[in-house]
Amino acid sequence: MNPRRRSRLREDLRPNAARWEQLARTHGTPLLVLEPHLVARRLRQLQTALTGFGVHYAVKALPHPVVLSTIAICGGGFDVATRGEVDLLGRLGLPMHRCIHTNPIKKPADIDHAYAAGVRTFVVENAAEVQKFRGRPADIDVLVRLAFRNPAAKSDLSSKFGVAPAEAELLVKHVLAAGVRFAGFSFHVGSQSSSVEPYRRALQHTLDLADHVEDTLGVPARVLDIGGGFPVSYREDEPPIGAVGAIVDDVLGRRRHDFALLCEPGRFLVADCMTLLASVVGTAERDGQVWHYLDDGLYGSYSNVMTEDVHPPILALEELLRAEAAFDPVTLAGPTCDSADVIARDYPMPALGIGDLVVSPMMGAYTAVTASRFNGIEATPIVMG
Ligand SMILES: Cc1ncc(COP(=O)(O)O)c(C=O)c1O
Repeated sequence: MNPRRRSRLREDLRPNAARWEQLARTHGTPLLVLEPHLVARRLRQLQTALTGFGVHYAVKALPHPVVLSTIAICGGGFDVATRGEVDLLGRLGLPMHRCIHTNPIKKPADIDHAYAAGVRTFVVENAAEVQKFRGRPADIDVLVRLAFRNPAAKSDLSSKFGVAPAEAELLVKHVLAAGVRFAGFSFHVGSQSSSVEPYRRALQHTLDLADHVEDTLGVPARVLDIGGGFPVSYREDEPPIGAVGAIVDDVLGRRRHDFALLCEPGRFLVADCMTLLASVVGTAERDGQVWHYLDDGLYGSYSNVMTEDVHPPILALEELLRAEAAFDPVTLAGPTCDSADVIARDYPMPALGIGDLVVSPMMGAYTAVTASRFNGIEATPIVMG
C-alpha cells in the first residue's frame, strides 16, 4: 500500500474511528457501514466533471435500496442488466423512465419484461441480438455497443461484449433493416482503468463512426453513451474524475450539443460509501511471517480481490486512534477453509491481537453483492453509519 495514501486515509478516517468502534460493539463484526450521503457527494462530483451527461447508475455495483433511492432523489437514473434489477427498481417505486437496459445479450422475454416496466432504451452488439427486437414496439431505441479493448483496466469488458468499430456500420444496417430505431452508440472502456486515455480513443473513434454512419446510411446518432469504468483510489492514487471530464470536453468540443450524452458509472458512485469493519479471529506464525485470520474474506466482502484484482486499503482501527505505530509485513487471511482465501500478503500492519478491529474503506462496489455463502458463512450485515 502506498504509504502516503495510507497516511492521508488515516487522517480522513480518524473522525469516524470512535463511531466505528461503537458500531462494532453494538452489531458485532464483520459489519459493512453504509453512508449514503457519500453517494450523493460522488454523484455531484460526476455531474460537475461530466457536464450535461445523464447519469445512469449501474445497479449491479451495489443494489442497496438506500443507495438506489439516494441516486433517484439526486436526479440520477439507472442502468439495469437483468430482470431482477428491473424488478428491484419497480418494487422500490423508482422512476423507470430514467432507466436504460445495457445487457448486450438477453432473452426476448427479458426485453418484454423491461419494456412492460417502462424501459425504452436497450443495447445490441451483434446481428442475432438485433433480430430479437424485430416486430417489438416502435418506441424502442437501440444503442450499438462498440468494443474498445483496454489492457489497463482491471476488468476489460470489451473482451466479452461489443462490436468491433470496423463492423459497426454493418450492424447499424441490420438495425435499420429490422425496422428498429437506431439511437446511437455506447461503449465501456473497462472497469477501474489506471489510465483515462482509453476514453479519448474510444470517444474519438465513436464520433468518427457516428459521422461515417450518418454519411453512408443517412441516420444520425442521437445518443453517445460513454459507459462507466471511472477509476477510484484504493491502495494507490488513481486519476481524478476531472481528468475524464477534461478528455470528454477536449474530444467533443462544441459537438457535445449534437448528442444526448449518457454515462453508466457503478464503482465511482458507490466505492467510498461503505466501510468494512472486521475482527482478528486468530493469529499464527507461518513460514516466518505473522498471519492474522479475519472474520471476512475473499468469499465474502473482499470478493473483488479475487474477481477483479482490486485491492482495498486495510487499516487497523488502532492506527486511527493513536498517532504513530510501527508496521511489519503480515498476511491477512479470510475465515473460510480454502487456502485461496488470502486477502493480502506482505501487507504492512501494526501489531494486532485476537479481537482487534481492522477497517477497510472503499468497500461499496462489487463487495456485498458479489459475496458468496461459501462454508456456511452468512452475508455481512449492512448498517447505516
Ligand atoms: C454495461 C455496463 N455499464 C456499466 C458498468 C459499471 O462499470 P463500473 O462499475 O466500472 O463503473 C458495467 C460493469 O460491469 C457494465 O457492464
